[in-house]
Amino acid sequence: MFGEKKLIGLDIGSSTIKMAELNVQRGNAQLVSFGYLPTPQGVVGAGEINNVSSVAEAVIALSHQIKTSRKYVSLGMWGTSVIVKKITIPKIEKKLMDQQIRWEAEQYIPFDPAEISLSFHVINLPGGGDTMEVLLVAAQNAMVRQFNQLVDEAQLKIGVLDVSGFALANAFELNYGKIPGQTISLLNFGAGVTNCVVIHHGEVIFSRDIPFGGSNYTMEIHREMGVTLPEAEALKLSAVTGTEVPEQVHSIISAVNSMMIDEVRNSFDFFTASSAGFAINNCYFTGGAAGVPNLIPQISQATGIPFEPLDPFQRIKPGKGVSPGYMQQIAPFAAVAIGLGLRKVND
Ligand SMILES: Nc1ncnc2c1ncn2[C@@H]1O[C@H](COP(=O)(O)OP(=O)(O)OP(=O)(O)O)[C@@H](O)[C@H]1O
Ligand SMILES: [Mg+2]
Repeated sequence: MFGEKKLIGLDIGSSTIKMAELNVQRGNAQLVSFGYLPTPQGVVGAGEINNVSSVAEAVIALSHQIKTSRKYVSLGMWGTSVIVKKITIPKIEKKLMDQQIRWEAEQYIPFDPAEISLSFHVINLPGGGDTMEVLLVAAQNAMVRQFNQLVDEAQLKIGVLDVSGFALANAFELNYGKIPGQTISLLNFGAGVTNCVVIHHGEVIFSRDIPFGGSNYTMEIHREMGVTLPEAEALKLSAVTGTEVPEQVHSIISAVNSMMIDEVRNSFDFFTASSAGFAINNCYFTGGAAGVPNLIPQISQATGIPFEPLDPFQRIKPGKGVSPGYMQQIAPFAAVAIGLGLRKVND
């Protein structure tokens, strides 16, 4: 369309920053370009950016890497910067909703109301009688300010402000469609957080960021073996590829796997307790840390839920200059950037 603002999906991870450019026409999506760079050490936390300028520098470098001419970015909030909570309210007129939602939020959201921005999404599922279910999204203004400063310094503009978990669900929906009747969990095992989303018939009904991920393995190796963080990361990745490492590395990985399993199980239990009538049928996983040896089979066994990899490119074609081999290489950690890049302004 004339004047349409094409977006860049920008996923700011604590381990890698990813940028994705897509073209979507009549439901057909094409990957125009994708780039990623390591996040400068320690600058991205579990819900905040500690050093906006150094992230902005990385974003500028990425813009050059992918040679983008787009100006608007789609960004996702994550971790402690955003709370997503499902609430049930009486069915009321649309014009009364804002006030009702604000009142409900003050009961349920443990942030200072002056410091948050609220939005909500009515969950469109059949039934419900006199009540309706609403996903309440409370974002910390501090994070919104950091994003504004970031795009400013990188000479870009905010097109869409999203939630990483919702972007994950968006990437899933493009590739797999709305699966009728099924309750599906999506897990994105990152470095600092694991995004846990539950969708039912294409609607997000639960979203929570588990503050646990790949960096917990690295931290434990660092702490217990007295090696530096980069050495600990290298030991972990050697264990992943089957290169010989001291036996202690394997035992640490296995101990941290147990903690990760507990975290996922707790989130699933929390979902079940808060969503009467829904049981998770299956789970799609992604994220760099999903490659940790034995993690996925063990979670599947502990929860009794079948797991399969989420392919973020199942229905996305390579654009000119993007090779299928490259798409295969980035697939394990691209999902959130893809889901963000698929958004439209005013989506
Ligand atoms: N093959 C692999 N097997 C296991 N772990 C891996 C592998 N490759 C990368 N990792 C780990 O995955 C993490 C990076 O994944 P990802 O890019 O999804 O995280 P991120 O988006 O930067 O983090 P977050 O979103 O949590 O802030 C790091 O902890 C890294 O050590
Ligand atoms: Mg991530």
